[in-house]
Amino acid sequence: MYRPSSLGHKLATKIRIITETKKNYVEKSPFSCRYRQKSVTLQQDFALKLVMKRILFICLGNICRSPAADGIMRHLVAERGLEDEFLIDSAGIGSWHVGQLPDYRMRQCGQRHGYNFDHRARQFSSKDFARFDLIAVMDQENYHDVARQANSQADLAKIIRMSDYLRHHPGQKTVPDPYYGDTRDFEFALELLEDACEGLLEELTKSHQ
Ligand code: 4NP
Repeated sequence: MYRPSSLGHKLATKIRIITETKKNYVEKSPFSCRYRQKSVTLQQDFALKLVMKRILFICLGNICRSPAADGIMRHLVAERGLEDEFLIDSAGIGSWHVGQLPDYRMRQCGQRHGYNFDHRARQFSSKDFARFDLIAVMDQENYHDVARQANSQADLAKIIRMSDYLRHHPGQKTVPDPYYGDTRDFEFALELLEDACEGLLEELTKSHQ
């Protein structure tokens, strides 16, 4: 979920630091490329790209898998003290659950594992391609639904599959939808998401290690 006020504050702080240094400012992105920017006034959008990696998690309804991925990734990022470097959000392909908290079964499952999933569902929009660096989908259906809204090859290149970051579930090609399942299906989705979020975060922070 967007947190505009805290994001604005962090951004303002970063911009102030950049401007106050009065010399070349070097920021290392989690994607291992280095950006160099003169200490001049920066447009907010540009500064945002410079200092943060922006990840949007996608699933069908935005009440089970993607808000769980959102909460898990926030948790991992906070554990590592990297809150200033990541902007994390989630959205759904459909609009059926817009404004709702995650499904109570996913919230209960999250609580059993020490998470508090409190995202409010929203629908994915093609404008999200400009707002995020990575669009992380759960399954092939999500992939196609997002891809057909892409405006360019650059947009398409932002779409990644969570299953590609699994390290402890060989052969698993999706994060299956637990919505019509039982507690075990929710537990399995959460287990996969923990594995994939850890794998993805490690990939994104490799250049820092
Ligand atoms: P999600 O699960 O995509 O993981 O949020 C679903 C939630 C709701 C529906 C389908 C999947 N639904 O059909 O309402």
